[in-house]
Amino acid sequence: MRTQVGIVGAGPAGLLLSHLLARQGVSSVILETRSRDEIESTIRAGVLEQGTVDLLTEAGLADRMRREGHVHHGIELRFEGQGHRVDLSGLTGGRAITVYAQHEVIKDLVKARLDAGGRILFEAKDVRLSGLDERTPRISFLHEGRAQTIDCDFIAGCDGFHGVSRASIPAALKVEYERKYDFGWFGILVEAPPSSKELIYASHDRGFALVSTRSETIQRLYFQCDPKDDVANWPDERIWEELDLRLSTEDGWRVKRGRIFQKGIIAMRSFVVEPLQYGRLFLAGDAAHIVPPTGAKGLNLAAADVKVLARAFEEHYTRGRSDLLESYSATVLKRIWRSEHFSWWMTSMLHRFPDGDPIQRRFQLAELRNVAASEAAARLLAENYVGLPMA
Ligand code: FAD
Ligand code: DHB
Repeated sequence: MRTQVGIVGAGPAGLLLSHLLARQGVSSVILETRSRDEIESTIRAGVLEQGTVDLLTEAGLADRMRREGHVHHGIELRFEGQGHRVDLSGLTGGRAITVYAQHEVIKDLVKARLDAGGRILFEAKDVRLSGLDERTPRISFLHEGRAQTIDCDFIAGCDGFHGVSRASIPAALKVEYERKYDFGWFGILVEAPPSSKELIYASHDRGFALVSTRSETIQRLYFQCDPKDDVANWPDERIWEELDLRLSTEDGWRVKRGRIFQKGIIAMRSFVVEPLQYGRLFLAGDAAHIVPPTGAKGLNLAAADVKVLARAFEEHYTRGRSDLLESYSATVLKRIWRSEHFSWWMTSMLHRFPDGDPIQRRFQLAELRNVAASEAAARLLAENYVGLPMA
């Protein structure tokens, strides 16, 4: 096979890139190790920034999201038994977030790509990249029991944190920055009506908790836990007791209970590789960077990367300009580090540090009270949370 841009990974980054390239007449093939069923049912993110929604809308990929997603104009910060609303739209000139599950975005992107005749090869095994610093890089893999290759002009590494793309860059030509956290998130899906009209980010002496939503009948809740804990240690009753302890307010608010039908634990890290390019390989999304989920930035950063990358490929193919490809890494790193910092800041402000210095909790409460009381502080949070403009 031969294509202009070989895309490794059918996550939000790879799928969206393929769409944006097709609109400019640039050909691509997507290779994905998992099955279509699996990528369409893995539960992950839920919050889309205004810029991500705008990008999906411009690309004609937002019909179902507009019908079924929920636009939120504020969030609540909850601490010391009280809620404090951050008016996202009022503080950002009308910008907002949309709550729409990542696997729904994936379903929409896969369907639209296949309907348009796009090529996505699912369940590709043993994917390897070669010739990355030559004119025609190659992707080799096993598909339907046969060894195959795709010769490309360029390869987009959109294969997430554990993929092959970043690993294909020689160690001497990259720097990896990483911070691990001593805590993770326990996430559940519940059959219940919404407990709140807006998301609640709660900081409690026992740890962080988050109330999010999926629909009128399904809710998404998270609470801070030990990343090495086992879901088997958390029968439903223990989960509800813990959520009540962390979320209840002085005025009697309680989270609405229901049947829990999904449980999972996620670890947290901050991670960036520099640069995001090696020869004809360009990294985008989680392949290049990870944020702790507290700022809801991961999927949105992936979208911002591929917007810049798609435009750089377009300029290369339509005008023969290579400067945008050459500056891709430096361009996206500015936004990446801004989001990394914001995600670290939200995480530090809201979580319990298990072996932390007792002064830490005092600093956190002082910061939370400041965001609740100062319009300038709240605006800083709001601008970053709804998402800074995409390049
Ligand atoms: P991925 O989604 O990881 O996709 C990579 C794809 O590549 C996968 O399908 C994988 O199977 C495939 N792949 C891997 N290796 C290979 C290979 N060798 N060959 C071919 N294919 C390969 N972000 C937000 O913005 N907002 C949120 O609210 C939010 N909440 C989150 C909640 C949870 C519980 C989790 C886990 C994450 C959350 N995130 C959130 C982060 C977000 O899910 C990721 O940042 C996003 O999925 C990144 O997209 P991606 O396309 O770069 O990578
Ligand atoms: C969700 C995930 C997040 O990481 C976050 O900050 C807010 C909401 C969610 O899955 O709904």
